[in-house]
Amino acid sequence: AEVHQHEFVVQETPVERLCNTHHIITVNGQLPGPTLEVREGDTLEVNVINQAPYDVTIHWHGIRQLGTPWADGPEFVTQCPIKPGGSYKYVFTIKGQEGTLWWHAHSSWLRATVYGALIIRPREGKEYPFGKPHREVPLILGEWWNANPVEVIREAQRTGGAPNVSDAFTINGQPGDFYNCSKKETTAVPVKPGETALLRFINAALNHELFVSIGQHKMTVVAVDASYTKPFTTDVLMIAPGQTTDVLVTMDQPPTRYYVAARAYISSQGVPFDNTTTSAVLEYDCGCATDFGPKIQPAFPALPAFNDTAAATAFAAGIKSPETVKVHDHADEYLFLTVGLGLFNCEPGQLCAGPNNNTRFTASMNNVSFVFPKTDSLLHAHYYKVPGVFTTDFPAYPPVQFDYTAQNVSRALWQPVPATKLYPLRYGSVVRLVLQDTSIVTPENHPIHLHGYDFFILAEGFGNFDHKKDIEKFNLVDPPQRNTVAVPVNGWAVIQFVADNPGVWLMHCHLDVHITWGLAMAFLVHDGYGELQSLAAPPVDLPMCK
Ligand code: C2O
Repeated sequence: AEVHQHEFVVQETPVERLCNTHHIITVNGQLPGPTLEVREGDTLEVNVINQAPYDVTIHWHGIRQLGTPWADGPEFVTQCPIKPGGSYKYVFTIKGQEGTLWWHAHSSWLRATVYGALIIRPREGKEYPFGKPHREVPLILGEWWNANPVEVIREAQRTGGAPNVSDAFTINGQPGDFYNCSKKETTAVPVKPGETALLRFINAALNHELFVSIGQHKMTVVAVDASYTKPFTTDVLMIAPGQTTDVLVTMDQPPTRYYVAARAYISSQGVPFDNTTTSAVLEYDCGCATDFGPKIQPAFPALPAFNDTAAATAFAAGIKSPETVKVHDHADEYLFLTVGLGLFNCEPGQLCAGPNNNTRFTASMNNVSFVFPKTDSLLHAHYYKVPGVFTTDFPAYPPVQFDYTAQNVSRALWQPVPATKLYPLRYGSVVRLVLQDTSIVTPENHPIHLHGYDFFILAEGFGNFDHKKDIEKFNLVDPPQRNTVAVPVNGWAVIQFVADNPGVWLMHCHLDVHITWGLAMAFLVHDGYGELQSLAAPPVDLPMCK
């Protein structure tokens, strides 16, 4: 196994998009940031040097961080932010994971431009279970704002209203052919007739789930979130923010140019939406005498309608793990958590740009709107037993009958309680969670991401989760394994993991606007009794809050 050393300089960089030059925050001047390529078993040492005018942290999304919770990265959870002028070295080893993950800023909305791919190949001498592709291409889906994203969310927090939507979707940082002044820079993927390419899709968009398709080509899904799947062939993918999807594509069509295209899947009904599409181009190199080249316009990409929940549901249902996975058929903790938006009534003198002009948006899990601490990180406070930073009384109970419709929800659920509450877990316990979408403000998909763990998705459904009836649907044989689940609109998902990684682990909606509003909670996983089961001391350069 190797040790890879990298330097990430977070800095302000001029970048031209959509006809104008913008000063954005990048890593090493690149958008997307550098691609990290490692093998399973390797160690990464990334020294992050903050030369930007903002506080920043970097999160290694999906990396389990076994034994290295101090390297996880969410600000005020596992570390305090790296101040302008400061630095912090993230050191971690990749254990038992192969496939595509990514890294991104975990402070304010900086991840709009601070993100990149993290590719994990099998150990030397070991092959992919799906054979050797002729080429591998990371394709990172993103979202672009002409305005400064940090200002966009600050403004929304000031007024209590919804933030402005982005100006474009992007693939590898480029909006593509369907946007103004973007054609020349459209991402090109050169391919050869007959070959098979492994395309590694990552959804790094801030606030949108995305449908993806390729003109005239089928895709075979072979991995999601760095867990292998049974090969599953499809015309369209639905990727939620935080998720990755690896697909094999065989170049079996007439040699010309084809769009790889993505556009938003909007699960909430009645939300106005700018129906725009980002694109890259598969360019066949036929090796023939005539140059059909860039003169040939690809056909307009076929994608599901923006509100096609049936397409999203069918895609999710197609993903299965290989049958070699081991799924516990019992749980030590069986918990119910609502996920959804709520509203605060305005106090006199407050701005109130939420619904009806007398409310401010909020969001919660089990009626608690998560508040990030300011004086310490949760993990540091836990390790040194610093009082007053958090409590361990996050309210989670065994599944209850919950009416998700707004009309019948108790008034209390409309006004969640802001608090920093953790849920404690015994080391090694099998944890089963029911995630139930609410429609108190609006029903919609919530991509729920758990730090530090992969989980199995035992079942998903619409309506209210009903333990007696829905337990029949639990897949304990080949459930998909992920780190982010798109909890269906007006529905639920049941996930399960083993709490074998001591530390404090954030769980949150990966739509950034929702995490800003408090759609988050954290688990405190206690130490076990074995030598490798207790929390290591913090690294000496761990950033502190003061
Ligand atoms: Cu990819 Cu907490 O995030």
